[in-house]
Amino acid sequence: MRCHARFLLAVCASFAIALTGAATAKAQSADRASTPPMGWNSWNHLADRVTDDDVRAAADAIVASGMKDAGYIYVNIDDSWEGQRDAQGNIHPNSKFPDMKALGDYVHSKGLRLGIYSSPGPKTCGGYEGSYGHEQQDASTYASWGVDFLKYDLCSYMEIMKLHDPHQDPQKALVMMQAAYRKMHEALINTHRPIVYSLCQYGVGSVWEWGREVGGDMWRTTDDISDHYGSMALIGFSQAGLEKFAGPGHWNDPDMLEIGNGGMTVDQYRTQMSLWAILAAPLLAGNDLSKMDEITKSILLNKDVIAVDQDKLGIQGSRVEPPQIWMKPLSGGAKAVALFNYVIDDEAEPLTLKFKDVGFNGPVHARDLWAHKDLGILQDFYTVTVPQGGVVMLKIWK
Ligand code: GLA
Repeated sequence: MRCHARFLLAVCASFAIALTGAATAKAQSADRASTPPMGWNSWNHLADRVTDDDVRAAADAIVASGMKDAGYIYVNIDDSWEGQRDAQGNIHPNSKFPDMKALGDYVHSKGLRLGIYSSPGPKTCGGYEGSYGHEQQDASTYASWGVDFLKYDLCSYMEIMKLHDPHQDPQKALVMMQAAYRKMHEALINTHRPIVYSLCQYGVGSVWEWGREVGGDMWRTTDDISDHYGSMALIGFSQAGLEKFAGPGHWNDPDMLEIGNGGMTVDQYRTQMSLWAILAAPLLAGNDLSKMDEITKSILLNKDVIAVDQDKLGIQGSRVEPPQIWMKPLSGGAKAVALFNYVIDDEAEPLTLKFKDVGFNGPVHARDLWAHKDLGILQDFYTVTVPQGGVVMLKIWK
């Protein structure tokens, strides 16, 4: 079950909801995800093949590669871990995951956190058991396993929405969807365990306008990413305009990283890392961490770029002029500026950044975050030829 039905839900973007306890939910959310969550998720590389051994190997590799020290702390199991419910309705993992509590203990023993996946519908997108009708029971089970992060994926809940309203009134659909997400939020809160709540419903109904109100710490803004430049660029560059909806504890999520999966060039993967950092997006690696080459490590572990993503102001960056240039304000008055060349079939041409276009008058200090080089003091503008599909990323300050 993939996505073609998803966008048929032309739900109203501006529907306002009133929630009791919204202020409390917001405060707790800022504690759980004060900066964009970082870690690894099994889906992009392993899809439904993920096993207990893979998750342990990912945890080991996060530590050994230096990713843990760089801030990647969530080890997230995506779809396909689910087995059957017992007579009491308790969910059990399938045979690929013999003991979820033991796996949680292992991940925690490495100083990392465990993530899991479910759906508000009866079935997940992969056709496994969802949480419909068992929300509190599942949240309590996850907490007993030591789960620290839940990705909650709409999937078959769309069928429930249709059943309840065959005419598919967009307004009614939106209200039902919001109620379903809020229900699991409340169930997670009732466990008294801080569990990062990641909404996944592909952006329908302009989730960025209400994701926070239903308890989301982050929400997918688009359909699924794939390991191709076209997919990544379409998703990443289409985030322009969503910046006002993000901040500490509530992040727009343009989906996970594909860096290291083999379908893009090094320049294109640097573009994903840079753009996601400018966007203050969650950084969830999606590659085989146990077989990372040095180039992949150099991208995922670029501490200057990670610092842009994780900057404590939590401001999502935005597109400026010319449109290939994006800027993110950083704490201390600095700014991160990325110059992208999203054209991949023409000769690369020089691109000029005028410092006044990103709010600086007069000379600035600059550092090139991919060349790892201080550029000294620059006057008025900077001209550079950006490789096809690639990026030059600077930190600029007075
Ligand atoms: C949906 C989600 C993906 C992944 C799969 C799993 O497509 O958007 O990120 O979780 O489901 O089935």
